[in-house]
Amino acid sequence: MEANGNHTNATRRDFLKTAGVLGAGLVASGAVSPAHAADAPRKVETLAMNGGPKAITAPAADATKWPIYGDEEIDLVTKLLRNPGYGPVAEFEDAWKAQFGSPFAKAHCNGTNALTSMLFACDYPEGSEIIVCDYSTWFPLVPMRLFGLVPVLVDANPRTMNIDLEAFKKAITPKTRAVLAVHWYGMPCDMEEIGAIAKERGIDVLEDASHAHGAKVKDTWIGNWGRMAGFSLQSTKPLPAIEGGIAVYKERGDYERAVAYGNYDLPGSFPEDSPYRKYQGTAFGSKLRIHPVAAILARVQLRDLVKRNTEGVAQMKQLNDRITQLPGLTAQYEGPGIHRVYYSRNFLYVDAKQSGMSRDKVVEALKAEGMDVAAYTLKLQHEYPIYREDKWWRHMPVLPTETPACDELNGKTISLPYFTSAQPELVEQYAAAFEKVWAHKDSLGKG
Ligand SMILES: Cc1ncc(COP(=O)(O)O)c(C=O)c1O
Repeated sequence: MEANGNHTNATRRDFLKTAGVLGAGLVASGAVSPAHAADAPRKVETLAMNGGPKAITAPAADATKWPIYGDEEIDLVTKLLRNPGYGPVAEFEDAWKAQFGSPFAKAHCNGTNALTSMLFACDYPEGSEIIVCDYSTWFPLVPMRLFGLVPVLVDANPRTMNIDLEAFKKAITPKTRAVLAVHWYGMPCDMEEIGAIAKERGIDVLEDASHAHGAKVKDTWIGNWGRMAGFSLQSTKPLPAIEGGIAVYKERGDYERAVAYGNYDLPGSFPEDSPYRKYQGTAFGSKLRIHPVAAILARVQLRDLVKRNTEGVAQMKQLNDRITQLPGLTAQYEGPGIHRVYYSRNFLYVDAKQSGMSRDKVVEALKAEGMDVAAYTLKLQHEYPIYREDKWWRHMPVLPTETPACDELNGKTISLPYFTSAQPELVEQYAAAFEKVWAHKDSLGKG
């Protein structure tokens, strides 16, 4: 693995250097194989945006179809409808605990409420600060206001899209109680480093693992690194239940407090010595149970999660390893010991200086070739009005004054689809389209 996070392929890189853009253009057109391109006559296929043939012609309709349910889910849901009940909920929670080795797990109606239950379970004093990346989502952040907690937003790492470790360290104050690691689009945060910093500073690690079911750092599943973790099971996620969520806990006390928050009917099932048993019949004002249909979908999807992830990652790696040989094109960085999964999109970065082309020009040219590609710009959390209006907060959020890495990401990222089934032809054509566009980089750079 080289410093920019892309696997090297000396043969291909050397070939691109010697054959230069002209040879690469020919390969892009499919006219010659890479091995012979250096000797080939020098002809560049015209870009589709200039009237040439499209590089991408394979049908893409089902390539990103998600979720994919089968007869087993249909049969089980039909059985449930004939004989309604809540049995599937505990079956799903048990399957999750068996798969990931989580001591305690509670399924919820969605990820937001799994995370909200977690925040309640933390039981931090009013005004406690939780550090989280600005390049993320509202789902675990806005609910902090319900418990008098303070989101402290910090910059991202411009290679991983995850929380920047230096920014995290700098943001720690005597009021900090936790860091919330969000594993962006399936790329795990550096949990070893985060865990070490948190341990040294005496704060908790929490995880929003909504994009990263089945990802690992070293041999440890994402979701098992912190004191607790929450996952969305919404339709687009790696483990899709159409709508649903689950939260996992290491400590019995955390689990019981979280469960008591949104399950009026469960505290009575806790052991005699539980301080939460007495809340049977009322809970704390919310009802957050997962729908049993969603629990069925999640349980069946869980069985093949790892296999699906492995195949999907291998396919994306095949594409990314090839196209990141092109100058100025890199992928979301996967550091040593990090084992990512994909969630919905495949992000790459265009370095305008190194590639000689602006991101917009690259996107325009690739789109014309028939690619599902877009410039990716995320509205940062601190830009939303809710974090600035004191009527919503008992303690105001701490917002960054500058976010150079988030801004860099917003200026360089392009988003490609994650193919959810084997698509060898599309992978080949996507790679060829990039190579074709790069073969025209001199003219595109001028335009
Ligand atoms: C990072 C992240 N966390 C939490 C959630 C919330 O999950 P849900 O939509 O299931 O409530 C989402 C949903 O997209 C998400 O992207």
